Amino acid sequence: MTEYYDVLIKGGTVVNHDGIGQRDIGVIGGRIAAIGRLDAAAAADLVDASDLHVLPGVIDTQVHFREPGLEQKEDLETGSRAAVVGGVTAVFEMPNTKPLTTSPDTLSDKIERARHRMFCDFAFYVGGTRENVDDIPTLENLQGSAGIKVFMGASTGDLLVEDEPSLDRIIARIRRRAAFHSEDETRLRERAGLRRHGDPSSHPVWRDEIAAMIATERLVRLAETHRKRIHVLHISTAEEIEFLGRHKEWASVEVTPHHLTLVAPDCYERLGTFAQMNPPVRDERHRAAIWAGIASGVVDVLGSDHAPHTREEKEHPYPESHSGMTGVQTLVPIMLDHVNAGRLSLTRFVDLTSHGPARLFGLRGKGRLAVGFDADLTVVDMKRTETITHNWIQSRSRWTPYDGVQVKGWPVGTFVRGRCVAWNGDILGSADGEPVRFLEV
Ligand code: DOR
Repeated sequence: MTEYYDVLIKGGTVVNHDGIGQRDIGVIGGRIAAIGRLDAAAAADLVDASDLHVLPGVIDTQVHFREPGLEQKEDLETGSRAAVVGGVTAVFEMPNTKPLTTSPDTLSDKIERARHRMFCDFAFYVGGTRENVDDIPTLENLQGSAGIKVFMGASTGDLLVEDEPSLDRIIARIRRRAAFHSEDETRLRERAGLRRHGDPSSHPVWRDEIAAMIATERLVRLAETHRKRIHVLHISTAEEIEFLGRHKEWASVEVTPHHLTLVAPDCYERLGTFAQMNPPVRDERHRAAIWAGIASGVVDVLGSDHAPHTREEKEHPYPESHSGMTGVQTLVPIMLDHVNAGRLSLTRFVDLTSHGPARLFGLRGKGRLAVGFDADLTVVDMKRTETITHNWIQSRSRWTPYDGVQVKGWPVGTFVRGRCVAWNGDILGSADGEPVRFLEV
């Protein structure tokens, strides 16, 4: 008897909970309906995936898409184009826009703007502040909210909660896992004089490993006191990896491809202010420790921290230059190159980009390539060698720290709820991204 599917992806090497092996995938109504040998099946849409790997859709749990208010850098449409061309099927977007996303109105405004303009699915973090602390239970539970994000150290934008009593009040009120930019603002202010004009290699001297560690220790202490779940973003130091490994029952850990790939002093010599981000890219000791955190399991997820700024904003002399780099489109190729180089396995990559986000954030119907789940798929060619260029970058800011870098392993196709939205660098179809759904909302 012939089985009929809307979409049938044939002959690909599937990487999922079941291991790695050749399987066909049948999709009905945007969900995975069957996985296995589907020889007798027919479909409206047949996709030949032979010689390709089919991964659960890559979820990037930290991007800055800048809309509203900073559209000279990026907007929700251009950011989502970059995402899907790079193999990313869903993003969690950050609240340091203009206005800040700190209220039900600013959240619903972002969701309205996203509908019919974003190609991938989306959720938006809500900024936790001194002013909205009593509203946190409501803000966490709005549709499309990824939860609460707090900046403990100043970065781009005006969101900052630097004092412990205010942080304590916020952590006491959270119910879902909340995300933190963990650098100690007091120490950053004390050390501001260590920035050397025109020398971005002084960035990690100013924002040193102790500033990161002070904030992370405080955060974990408050989380233990209130028995709450915290998510520590973009970990950049060996000391935090070691410390967080002793506090996994409270803290989940994100690292970025930038901190795994770039290294000081080389990155500042080659890229100057284009390598400047918060927390900074540091030396080899820290990079090696972050890789060790991937191997040991301390690290839960990869986030790109896609933080675009225009070339002009990046070219100001340090320290007037803006902090942040693009990354949503390069996450998959840069990390697949690391897989090919033997630095992590493909199953660990899937754990970091799909299973990890699903486990930490309680995603409804996402993050698992299994029957009944959304048919979000990242189709990759592990043998393809390509050179990343500024020209390939879809982000409005049109630059990448990896211009000219040759990688092996490339995103070929991106399926969001069964629809192919990007294939070989071309955007296909319309922008039908929807809010990610969470178990706890
Ligand atoms: O370098 C950074 N840039 N780090 C952050 O945490 C914020 C980001 C931005 O929004 O530009």
